[in-house]
Amino acid sequence: MATVRGPEYFKSSQLQVGVVGCGYVGLPLGLRFAEAGHRVIGFDTDPCKVQKLNSGQTYIQHIPREAIQKFVQSKHFSATSDFAKLAEMDAILICVPTPLDQRREPDLSYVENTAHSIRPYLQSGQLVVLESTTYPGTTEELVLPILEATGKKCPPAHGPENEQIATDFFLAFSPEREDPGNTLYGLAQIPKVVGGVNPPSSRAALSLYEQIVARVIPVSSTQAAEMTKLLENIFRCVNIALMNELKLLAARMGIDIWEVIDAASTKPFGFMPFYPGPGLGGHCIPVDPYYLSWKAREFDFATRFIELAGEVNTSMPYHVIDSVADALNARQKSIKGSRILVLGVAYKKDVDDLRESPALKILELLTARGALVDYNDPYLPQIHKLRNYNFEGMKSVPIDAESLAGYDCVLIATDHSSYDYDAIVEASQLVVDTRNATRRVPGKRCKIVLV
Ligand SMILES: NC(=O)c1ccc[n+]([C@@H]2O[C@H](COP(=O)([O-])OP(=O)(O)OC[C@H]3O[C@@H](n4cnc5c(N)ncnc54)[C@H](O)[C@@H]3O)[C@@H](O)[C@H]2O)c1
Repeated sequence: MATVRGPEYFKSSQLQVGVVGCGYVGLPLGLRFAEAGHRVIGFDTDPCKVQKLNSGQTYIQHIPREAIQKFVQSKHFSATSDFAKLAEMDAILICVPTPLDQRREPDLSYVENTAHSIRPYLQSGQLVVLESTTYPGTTEELVLPILEATGKKCPPAHGPENEQIATDFFLAFSPEREDPGNTLYGLAQIPKVVGGVNPPSSRAALSLYEQIVARVIPVSSTQAAEMTKLLENIFRCVNIALMNELKLLAARMGIDIWEVIDAASTKPFGFMPFYPGPGLGGHCIPVDPYYLSWKAREFDFATRFIELAGEVNTSMPYHVIDSVADALNARQKSIKGSRILVLGVAYKKDVDDLRESPALKILELLTARGALVDYNDPYLPQIHKLRNYNFEGMKSVPIDAESLAGYDCVLIATDHSSYDYDAIVEASQLVVDTRNATRRVPGKRCKIVLV
């Protein structure tokens, strides 16, 4: 086995970087490498995305068109569906989806397909990094054997005694920590965790990422890096579930949970706030914990916190519907036949991402119970095709004082900053607020139901 390039090669300022999967994670990552002076090719199986990128257009709301145009024009960024170009890359970063299948088990088909796409073009000395969120073991158990079927080897080995181990190519895992829409922490400011299949792979990945982020944290293995990402997301999932459960208890006790969280947040140590809501959303938090639950079964281990958190969080949209029913009931109305407007369908505020949004479940449950439902979302003028829901083509309705007054209930599912909550409460007959978005609306509290 001979390594053509050593790990230090990836300190070079003129690398060819291939990013496979130009979505929420891959596109900003590719643009960041372009910004650092590297030549980047984005590989995607979606020809529409490839065409849009090459003509300098964006399809992600928080990534401005100008950022793409600049690097396309300077030839630091281009996109393609021609995977043969992978052979020209120094580093290949895999950022493809890792969803759950119909049985809520890990669907690694995208990662597997990508590894198969790389295999015919794998070169000695290339660095391959898996960035997709997944269970510990994926890089070594799934990706490595596919790449090693080329005859090129990357032997798994950890510890300082393996510092100089010979390897034909480099393979590592580095989780993505992007928080779409977060203006405080962009990609360059967020530390990046890296774990290699062997020490040279770790060093190669470290050298590469040090060029684009302020701090790289090496860990001892790909498994440790994979588990780090899951720990972070399970931590969020469990704490949100805790707040959701305590919200239900607090409501029964006549206590405002939001006031309590604010008060507890003044403790300068040992507490960090999490907030209740209508349920979990986004591509990560509702999905990732189940990757670990699934893998845990191989070790005869039940991940009880994850299961319990899932149970509590999944029940929240049902709680919202019951609360809407109660609020309408108090006004001698029923859900059936009522006109209900859902405000905000994105999974969190100020983003255009619908994936796993609890608002979709809410729309579905309201419709099933006979409500006449509309939605408004400034970020999502229309609902596109979704795997588990049948709302394709449904359009955001415009809102003004007159239209708001025509609804029996206005349900705030997502607290976009652009909404004028004063005006919404003023005009509406009844507001059911799942995000405490109306906390600063002074009068008219009798119209607002906090759930
Ligand atoms: N979105 C986030 O905020 C976020 C944050 C951290 C981690 N992650 C993780 O990052 C990974 C990617 O997520 P995302 O949100 O960017 O997904 P995405 O759906 O936005 O993008 C994935 C892209 O991959 C493309 N693709 C699918 N199969 C392909 C293949 N075989 N070859 C090339 N391209 C292919 C799709 O067309 C799409 O453009 C997932 O594992 C996710 O869990 C996402």
